[in-house]
Amino acid sequence: MKTNTNSVTTTSSLRGDALLAMIGNTPMIPLHFPEENRTLWAKCEFLNPSGSIKDRLARTIVLDAESHGLLHRESIILECTSGNTGIAFAMVGAARGYRVAIVMSERASGERRKIIQHFGAELILFADAGYKRGIEMTREMAEADPRYFLPRQFENPLNALDHESETGVEMLEQSEGQVDCFVSGYGTGGTLAGCSKALKKGNAKTQIFAMEPAEAALLTGEEACCHWIEGIAGGFVPPLLQGVELSGVVKVSSREAMEMTLRLNREFGLLVGSSSGANVTAALRVARDFPSDARVVTILCDRAERYFSTRLFGDCS
Ligand SMILES: Cc1ncc(COP(=O)(O)O)c(C=O)c1O
Repeated sequence: MKTNTNSVTTTSSLRGDALLAMIGNTPMIPLHFPEENRTLWAKCEFLNPSGSIKDRLARTIVLDAESHGLLHRESIILECTSGNTGIAFAMVGAARGYRVAIVMSERASGERRKIIQHFGAELILFADAGYKRGIEMTREMAEADPRYFLPRQFENPLNALDHESETGVEMLEQSEGQVDCFVSGYGTGGTLAGCSKALKKGNAKTQIFAMEPAEAALLTGEEACCHWIEGIAGGFVPPLLQGVELSGVVKVSSREAMEMTLRLNREFGLLVGSSSGANVTAALRVARDFPSDARVVTILCDRAERYFSTRLFGDCS
């Protein structure tokens, strides 16, 4: 058998395994809204160890790269991200013993930068708010230096596959197979594409709705403008969303997202970020068109502590 002597897995297969085992299998909880007389179901992805849904992707891509001999002692994992993917790769890299370099918009919150650096990863900032420039930078860097390993979260099919085989399957198990409707925003589109595939396999009648910022409603055919919903809608429709069969698109304004996030923080005790508030706003709106006992599922994507310097905490200073 051909063995790769350079591969980290061959020398330290247990390194970080305990941390990786903490990723996923998140609870799904009911959120009851008495005024609206509605209960939604929310998958608590903010409970992953680095605090976001992106831990799943980082774990799966690193394990897959190891199994294909693509990661070596001298490798540097290089990714462009709005923050959560960077935090997740920085955490997995630290646990597994890899160098990590993260390319990120300088508009991303300082807390996310600090967390990434605190895990020991290198941070490379670019001026633009969207992802395009950052993705180009990672490609240019990888062409110039073979040590870089690019997870390519925006196009890597493992991103969606992971949500299909895990997140979506967990949702089905946690709802005894009955999910009538799934509502989610998109960044890379991995969550929406993967979960909807699993849910449709479980029940072809499950309806899938995409949430997007009202200020950047690209799926609705509008221009992308600035919005305050952190972690989603990076200025283009991601390739992973191609072929996703949507029943509809729900536009949520940044202000509505903030208001709902504060409700989740203060009325439910859930310290989540603004994309969670946006998802719940959209799910509540969609739920109006379903019978009251229908199971409408959405995602609480990440924790709020990484947003202290953003508008979300604006009235707490
Ligand atoms: C806070 C937050 N919410 C939602 C998403 C969207 O997830 P996906 O990239 O799977 O579309 C992300 C992605 O980065 C995120 O950081």
